Amino acid sequence: MTAETLTAIPPVSELPSAGSDFLEAIIAGLSSNPRSVPYKYFYDERGAALFQKICELPEYYITRTEIDILDRNRADIASCLGPNIELIGLGTGAGTKTRILIEALETPAVYIPVDISEKQLRESTVLFRKIFPDLEILPVCADYLQPVVLPSPSRKAVRNVVYFPGSTIGNFEPTEAEEFLRRVANVCRPNGLPAVALTEPGGLLIGADLKKDPRVLEAAYNDSAGVTAQFNLNLLDRLNRELGADFDLDQWRHRAIYNSTAGRIEMHLISEIDQFVHVNDQKFHFRRGEKIITEFSYKYAPEDFAALAGKAGFEFVRVWTDAARLFGVFYFTVS
Ligand code: AVJ
Repeated sequence: MTAETLTAIPPVSELPSAGSDFLEAIIAGLSSNPRSVPYKYFYDERGAALFQKICELPEYYITRTEIDILDRNRADIASCLGPNIELIGLGTGAGTKTRILIEALETPAVYIPVDISEKQLRESTVLFRKIFPDLEILPVCADYLQPVVLPSPSRKAVRNVVYFPGSTIGNFEPTEAEEFLRRVANVCRPNGLPAVALTEPGGLLIGADLKKDPRVLEAAYNDSAGVTAQFNLNLLDRLNRELGADFDLDQWRHRAIYNSTAGRIEMHLISEIDQFVHVNDQKFHFRRGEKIITEFSYKYAPEDFAALAGKAGFEFVRVWTDAARLFGVFYFTVS
């Protein structure tokens, strides 16, 4: 594994708490124009649980469509990925999709789930060790946006395949996405030390949400049960709990809009009144109607997504989609 792109992460039991980087990132985001909070802070324990609930909402087609695509095409997908692979899962959460994939794979050598949510990583590892007793599973609790050193499996794989499900790539701005995919491509390349060199170039199996009717998109992010609103507002609650901020949650409102020029859903928190909020020793003024951007979720045309991955060093192999072309599961190999 390439130590230059990936740096050491502790085992699951040693995951550090969010720490001072958290406060710094929040202060910087709230001080910028437009104001923002990095989306990765959604996923504390409560946020991860709320996201699970989002996945079950009738309007939120993403998760069930991706699962359905995997389910229908599992044999096809497995044959593209090939036998004896090292599967590296990024942000695989509870592992529902990965389970389907692993069940279809021919004698996978090792599974390395990398996830920021410790609880989900721990629980899915326990479950997977039970379901796949012969599979070596080496969980890594880490923020995969940061450099990470992957553990060394005891069995040598034929190639590395990175699995990045859930359309999480949509959170990145296109230039960041390209940068990130370039790092992923390095993980897939058989470029290790001679002693650990892989024999074949690897690949990337990645889920990306597709462009569609904006009404369908906006409904998915403004669900009628208000779960997405809770998920968004939990971010402020978390700042109160963990950073001693004093956001009054009753004075903030969730809104999601589709920005058709940029091709993305934008999640906002809107200040209902003119107000001051304290975070640590800093005081922030919000005008009535002012927004904090909490997330971008980019939507791609299949050819645009393939072009983006191509710029990052990947070669397009296949895309599997659903009948309504809502979602795409793409397979690329490194070129
Ligand atoms: C986890 C990034 C795929 O963008 O659809 C769901 C997160 N935000 N509802 C998405 C999310 C609001 C989700 N991703």
